Amino acid sequence: MQIIKVKNYQEMSNKAAEYIIQKVVQFPNCNLGLATGGTPIGTYQNLIEDHQKNGTSYRDVTTFNLDEYIGLAASNKNSYHYFMNDQLFKHIDINPERTFIPRGDAADIQKECLRYEECIERHGGIDLQLLGIGSNGHIGFNEPGASFESKTHVVNLTQSTINANSRFFANKDEVPTKAITMGIATIMKSKEILLLASGSKKSEALFNLLNLEVNEGFPASILQKHPSVTIIADEEALSRV
Ligand code: GLP
Repeated sequence: MQIIKVKNYQEMSNKAAEYIIQKVVQFPNCNLGLATGGTPIGTYQNLIEDHQKNGTSYRDVTTFNLDEYIGLAASNKNSYHYFMNDQLFKHIDINPERTFIPRGDAADIQKECLRYEECIERHGGIDLQLLGIGSNGHIGFNEPGASFESKTHVVNLTQSTINANSRFFANKDEVPTKAITMGIATIMKSKEILLLASGSKKSEALFNLLNLEVNEGFPASILQKHPSVTIIADEEALSRV
């Protein structure tokens, strides 16, 4: 595991964007796994700026998002579909037919899980997966206790995750209680993983990720077993490591 320590959120976002841009320039038809949440927003802004200034093209890139809330249609402002369009896709030259996100409003959610997993496989898997981390160690929406064997599946969100994510909603009651997420096994199949963390709220999670014995009670600990993980984290997030 490689750890890149940076000063603050801005530097984390700059370094992460550089990392992704390098990958896209070298492999213009790569498959990127993308994340939502507050952490990658600055990275996406940098990708947009670079696209506008330097013309880095995403025409042949395919993307797969980690997760989506169940019950929210793509048009819902709180959906991760909406987030991705708003924060990244509509500002770059990506082909909308190559951006994949689980459908939280699918009529048959179990079928949707299978379809999504197969879709990733059919495209040859993920080359570089971007990850944030929940303070309870969740990656994607794989909450503590998620099986390391899990593929794309439905999860019940924990109260701590609902509380943490309620800042994006008008009020806490609007936060969905279920989500569809790539599983731990899906994430672990990615060839490379880039995990970002910023701020003191993530310091315990990073400490646990690096120091706990690998166990399903702290999902991110599985990353110790992945052959190619890079962590870009700021001083506050690394303050306990
Ligand atoms: C959310 C997302 C995760 C994200 C995490 C951290 O629940 N499903 O993919 O990494 O929580 O979020 P943030 O970056 O806002 O701290």
